[in-house]
Formats: sequence, structure tokens, C-alpha cells
Amino acid sequence: MVTPQANIGVVGLAVMGSNLARNLASREGNTVAVFNRSPERTRLLVSEHPEANFIASETIDDFVASLATPRTAIIMVQAGAGTDAVISQLAERFEPGDIIVDGGNALFTDTIRREKAVSATGVHFVGAGISGGEEGALKGPSIMPGGSAESYKTLGPILSSIAAVAEGEPCVTHVGTDGAGHFVKMIHNGIEYADMQLIAEAFDILRQAGGFTPAEIADIFIEWNKGELESYLIEITAEVLKQVDAKTGAPFVDVVLDQAGSKGTGVWTVQTSLDLGVPVSGIAEAVFARSLSSQAAQRAAVSGLPAETTPLDSNDKAKLVNEVRNALYASKIIAYAQGFDAIRAGAAEYGWNINLGAVSKIWRGGCIIRAQFLNRIADAYDKNAGLLSLLLDDYFTEAIGASLPSWRRIVAGASLAGIPIPAFASSLSYYDGLRAPRLPAALVQGQRDFFGAHTYKRVDMPGTFHTLWSGDRSEIESEPSTH
Ligand code: 6PG
Repeated sequence: MVTPQANIGVVGLAVMGSNLARNLASREGNTVAVFNRSPERTRLLVSEHPEANFIASETIDDFVASLATPRTAIIMVQAGAGTDAVISQLAERFEPGDIIVDGGNALFTDTIRREKAVSATGVHFVGAGISGGEEGALKGPSIMPGGSAESYKTLGPILSSIAAVAEGEPCVTHVGTDGAGHFVKMIHNGIEYADMQLIAEAFDILRQAGGFTPAEIADIFIEWNKGELESYLIEITAEVLKQVDAKTGAPFVDVVLDQAGSKGTGVWTVQTSLDLGVPVSGIAEAVFARSLSSQAAQRAAVSGLPAETTPLDSNDKAKLVNEVRNALYASKIIAYAQGFDAIRAGAAEYGWNINLGAVSKIWRGGCIIRAQFLNRIADAYDKNAGLLSLLLDDYFTEAIGASLPSWRRIVAGASLAGIPIPAFASSLSYYDGLRAPRLPAALVQGQRDFFGAHTYKRVDMPGTFHTLWSGDRSEIESEPSTH
């Protein structure tokens, strides 16, 4: 007979699950039930960490029996069919008031579906985004739980005990109901893609135009990491660039095949934002850049086509470094502004009450996009929770303004030099598009009305209009339309 004494359980003991279980067990007051489909993994975890406060089970029945009520279990298995299978195993055995947490990278619409089905039985279902990779899971991730407010009463203290701490606050908050947590984690990953692509573009300009070696660029990034750009991603990029391949002695970055992979969360961010009508162009370009890099056959076939380039003026190396830094910072601000716009739009669409300031605070530590910069975003939302765009906050307005001359020169110069900078360039165009008093969208409306009678609105009077395009053009007139 198993004694029900664990206050939390973990199902799925691959690296992320094992590390999360170890993190939970290392915190005062936690007893952690652990279970994995193949028992060898469970035995390995327990034998490698005899000091940890684990209760290991080799059957799902024993696992459930080892949990004290309300039973709370975190599922850490691969997103998809595996998650559904474990959810139904637990849901069959759990009782009303118990809590099932999915800590994987699930698509938020799956989470909404699962929450609906599970909560109908009285059991709580919480989709929780967990960021920080293997190390974060072990030492303190950033956690984005959704689900009911009631389940958070039990779950909140447990998650707070293992989350990263930033500025004295645990990096966890109840993001919103049902799929809100996984939605916000998805956007986090979209921003992560944009941030990584922007850093990669900065590297490419410094290398191609500035002639710096990877090791020298690592030193530049180490410097940048002391200022406004301070972030985990800049820090690890410097480490990657410093790395020398043991086999060849060449810079590591030169021996890696230049085709970037992805597991899908960036694509989801873009697909979802397209549906919401939110232009996350920086994130989209980052996703497309990975796709383009992987078009090996096309790249090989096109590589000899005309280039007609003009080198970027790089006589003053210090100036180039500073201008690339400014362009990177401004583009990064755009990526975050777009990501937060997507969260706001998602919250409105799905009926979530998401506190954007709280989200920026829980991203300050533990997660992949953790950065000093998140404090600025938190300040902006503290000052004005209803901010229409991050670009309107004084700090960001000034930061972009100060970066603009460099940003324009780098985008123009890299384009002339034939250096691909999709994320830098689209971020600048996004900024110019948003601030433009008039856009050629008016012409697009005219084209739509011409070929499809799609109608348009006028600047000088209310109503919807359609122009009679055929016949004698001198008699063309606008008229209120019934379309
Ligand atoms: C995190 C990461 C993590 C993972 C992503 C990115 O927040 O800890 O985002 O979730 O690294 O899935 O993976 P891809 O680049 O392979 O899509």
C-alpha cells in the first residue's frame, strides 16, 4: 500500500522532466512523486539522486496513489499524442479538485481543448509554459501557467518555490485562464526567434563588412553585454563564437552546417498572429530566415547569380561596431513591441485578462529571452498598463530616436553590400510604416475596388463607397455601397 504523501508529482523523466523533478525535490517542504513510462528512467533518476525527496512509482496507479490531495501532477512528455495519452490516464484516476499540469510546449488551442474536456470532470487542467531549457528546469525556470484561478491557489506556491527569481520576485504568475499560459510561452518563443536572428544578422555584418573574426565578435558581444543589450542570448552567443572546433582548430561557427532547425513554436507564433491580424514581421522574418537557410538545393543553384554589390564603408571600425549595436537595439525593441501586441490581441480574442507588465516581469529571469531590457518593458507597463504600443513609452521612443541614424545607415549599407538582413530591414520598415501619416494602402484599396468591387472608405466623409470603374471615365463617381 502506497502512502499518499507527495505534494507534487512529475510524469515524464527525460532531461526536462528529471531536472524539474530534482528542482522541486530540492525545495523545502516538497515531496515529489516521479513516474516514467519506461521504469528504467525512474530507477536511474532515483539511483543518481538518493538524497532527493522522491517517491518513485513504476505504475501509473502507484504514482496516483502516492499523491496527497489535492493531487497535483506535472506532465513533462513530448507535446502531441503522448500528452493526450498521459492526460487521459491521470484524468481517469484523479478526483474533482485535483490538478493536471501540462508543462510541455503545447499549442495553446490544444490546451484550450484539453482544459475544456478535463475541467468538465471537475479536475483542473493547467497548461504551463516553462522556459529556460535544461538548466532552467533544474535551477529555476520562468513559468507561465494558465488554467483556473482556483488551481493556482495550490499550484502558485509550488511553482514559486522552483521558479527563477528576478529583482526579488519569483518568475511565475497566473497568466490567465485555459490556454493563456501556453499562448504567452508561444509568443516568448517567437520573440526568442527574432532576438536570435537579429543577433545573427549583427554578427554577419560585423564579419562580412567589418572583417572581424568570430573571436573578435565574441569580445564585441561581451562588451555589448555590459550595456542596454545585456541578455542571456548575447552572453551565450559570445560563448558560441569563442568556441574552437576540437577536430579542425577552426572557429566552431564555421564548421556548423548553416541550416537552422526549428521545432515549430516560432511558426505557431506567426500563424496565430496572421489569424489575429497582428504584424509580427520581425518574428516572421526570423522564421523565414531559418526556412531559407534550409533550402539547400535552391541556395546552391542560385549562389552564382549576379550580386552587383557595393561594400559597406567600414574604415572606422569603432563606428561600425557602434552603429550595428544601435541597429540591433532598435530592431530588438520592435520585436518585443510586436510580441506584446500579439499577446494583447490574443487576450482580446480569447477572453484572457493578461497583465502585460506581469508577463514582462516573469521574463526577467530564468527564460531564454531574459534580459535587463525586460525591466524597461515592466516600467513602461507600470506607468501605463493600457499602452497602445511599447514604442510610445518615453524610454523606447528616445531609444529608437537615438538609434535611427545608425539603423538606417546599417540597413541601407548592408543592402548595398548584399548582406542579407531580413529582420533588421523589416523592423525598420515596420517602424516607418507605423509612423507614416499616409500609406499606399489607399492605392491597394483602389485596386481592390477596381477588380473586385471590394469598396473603400473616404478620408472626407463617412460611409462605404464603390466607384463605377467601367464606361466613360469622366462620369466615374463614388457612391455609398451596399457591399
Ligand atoms: C525555452 C525554449 C525551448 C526551446 C524552443 C526552441 O523557452 O526554454 O524556447 O522551449 O528551446 O522550443 O526550439 P526551436 O528553436 O527548436 O524551435
